[in-house]
Amino acid sequence: MPKSVERVRADIPFLRTGVIYLDNAATTPTPKPVLDAMLEYYQEYSANIGRGLYRAAKRATEAFEATRVKIARVIGAKPEDIAYTKNTTEAINIVARGLGLKKGDKVISTVLEHHSNLLPWQRLESERGVKLELVGASKECLLDPADFERAIDKKTRLIAVHHVSNSVGSIQPVEEIGKLAQDHKILYLVDAAQSVGHMPVDVRRLKCDFLVAPGHKGLLGPQGTGFLYAAQGRLSGLEPLTVGGGIVEEVKLHRSKLVGPPQVFDVGTPNIPGVIGLGRACEYVLEIGVEKIAKRERKLLEQMLEIADIAGVKVYGPSEAVQHGGVLSFNIRGLDHHKVASMLDEIAKIAVRSGHHCAQPTMNHLGVEGTVRASVHYYNTESEIEKFVTSVGEIAQEMCS
Ligand SMILES: Cc1ncc(COP(=O)(O)O)c(C=O)c1O
Repeated sequence: MPKSVERVRADIPFLRTGVIYLDNAATTPTPKPVLDAMLEYYQEYSANIGRGLYRAAKRATEAFEATRVKIARVIGAKPEDIAYTKNTTEAINIVARGLGLKKGDKVISTVLEHHSNLLPWQRLESERGVKLELVGASKECLLDPADFERAIDKKTRLIAVHHVSNSVGSIQPVEEIGKLAQDHKILYLVDAAQSVGHMPVDVRRLKCDFLVAPGHKGLLGPQGTGFLYAAQGRLSGLEPLTVGGGIVEEVKLHRSKLVGPPQVFDVGTPNIPGVIGLGRACEYVLEIGVEKIAKRERKLLEQMLEIADIAGVKVYGPSEAVQHGGVLSFNIRGLDHHKVASMLDEIAKIAVRSGHHCAQPTMNHLGVEGTVRASVHYYNTESEIEKFVTSVGEIAQEMCS
């Protein structure tokens, strides 16, 4: 049965609290089928994976492994190229720590990254002498592939770029940047934290070597889940961040042989219910249809953009809706962003985020300390956005008149 907006809303228990939830860039509410999948694990086959030979353990292992197939389906990848992680941040750190980059090597990233796609590279710079070059952006927070072309030199080993900005919503030209990386034989990592599940993402089109994403944002999965995709067996070139039980073939007193990827990243007892829930979430998003989600988010975004016409309201990011994911950042003149967020909650039960959104360099780029951020998913309604636009108008009128 097609998944209408009403149907999806009915599936999300959190919405019954009456909240107008516009903080989907931070995390998304979990639909009942995803909750049910996790509950079913706890109630019917709550065993550890990979070890037991009894029925429940086999079922848990199969369900855990099946999620790789489901994630792969969402991003056009092969299941064996998917490693589970606890979030996007961990996935980026695995790449940063595991590539063996050394003094003199260069990493290119941008001034608009989420801190999670900046600090791991900064660490390589301070600890190993890797050169980190950060390309700039336009006033509207868009990246220009020509800036990457200029930054590339013989020492460049990796380009690491976000797909959609979590702080202002700009959609970056990741395919063009991928083409450049490929032409220059440079590794390419795409931080797809704000795009997977929100819009079509295909690793073959992006020509990326690595793609990282969380389970708990666009995919409507549980927190504590995420994944790292690595192309063409590149997972085997990466060391897991942690070693120990559950990932060994043979252990001697002073050395050990680990299993191969992707299971080598499942050290200890992993987040079994979370991964199973993520698998169900991938199916759920595919049942709605990712194109359909993207189209709807674009429509809602266009409606949210109406606040740009309100006196005293400044909207950041691209002015063209086609370059704008479902994330809208703004400020109201003379009002602290945190104050605006609290007022939206108080007057209309609208949940938005305020602050620097883990992207302080982006805020510096915009010349502000922080913004108010509203972000949508498929299940948000036109009447919720109308309420948001009216409420922003009321606050702006009251405070700026
Ligand atoms: C673009 C971007 N990258 C990385 C992250 C970090 O994601 P996680 O919280 O899954 O580690 C986020 C989180 O908001 C993000 O938006």
